[in-house]
Amino acid sequence: MCHILRKTLYLQRMSVRQHIVFLTGAGISADSGLCTFRDPDGLWRQVDPLEFCTASALHENPERVLAFYNRRRRELLSVRPNEAHRIVAELELIHDVTVITQNVDDLHERAGSTKVIHLHGELTKVTSSRNRLNPDCIKDFPLERPILTGDLAADGSQLRPAILFFDEYPTFVSEYAARLCRDADVFVVVGTSLSVGVAPDLVLLPRKDVPRYLIDPDDFSGRIPDGYIHLREKAVEGMRLFRKEAEEEFPSFARVMDGRAE
Ligand code: APR
Repeated sequence: MCHILRKTLYLQRMSVRQHIVFLTGAGISADSGLCTFRDPDGLWRQVDPLEFCTASALHENPERVLAFYNRRRRELLSVRPNEAHRIVAELELIHDVTVITQNVDDLHERAGSTKVIHLHGELTKVTSSRNRLNPDCIKDFPLERPILTGDLAADGSQLRPAILFFDEYPTFVSEYAARLCRDADVFVVVGTSLSVGVAPDLVLLPRKDVPRYLIDPDDFSGRIPDGYIHLREKAVEGMRLFRKEAEEEFPSFARVMDGRAE
């Protein structure tokens, strides 16, 4: 594709509000001090998720599961969004930005992102342990306040964190997320190992002729479809590079399209 045509297409593309979709994971919040799950110091290396992050564990030992999530809720009070979260939010000034996140923290919202879809629930919310999808029972719950046994949801059942447990199925939100990925004009994956849930499928959905980026310090060979530009950096540095790419017509993507990829 000749440079002039590409320049024209780009100016056409950038002069129009683009739909930029971010798919994020624990890595984007690692730079804020929250640990990831599967890295050497990850949470699931410290505790067995099946003992703390399942509906059956909540049923068998509610005190232990609630104590685990109360700790994670308190921890959220002590951290703040980092520059990577802020760059994502700032892009909303120019473009239509959607964030699809596996994270249960509220750092994207605190950074100013207005369209955030949580695939795995939110630590700032509680729900019913009888029917977690009952809209009358899903409520914001101040992070300062621990969820205690005996705290009841609107349906009279024990209150629980509004988190998707490992032995529970993702809801309609996954189909909605899939549609957004298909419609993306630019797609960016930040800080996820793509090892659970719908995330590994979502990265297959964006059109092949749109800029697709992966930001992660890890080696992803064989784990991401061809055509993704891998900015092998931590979230903050990676998002700075992505912002520069966006400002300069996605040169790395252009090279791929021209078959000149390194
Ligand atoms: N910046 C960017 N990426 C990072 C950073 C960083 N500072 N530190 C680590 N990473 C990358 C790792 O290389 C890894 O690819 O973030 C990813 C973290 O992977 P996981 O720990 O598996 O977290 P995630 O992919 O978000 O897990 C998905 O699994 O346990 C469930 O519900 C939980 O939502 C979570 C889901």
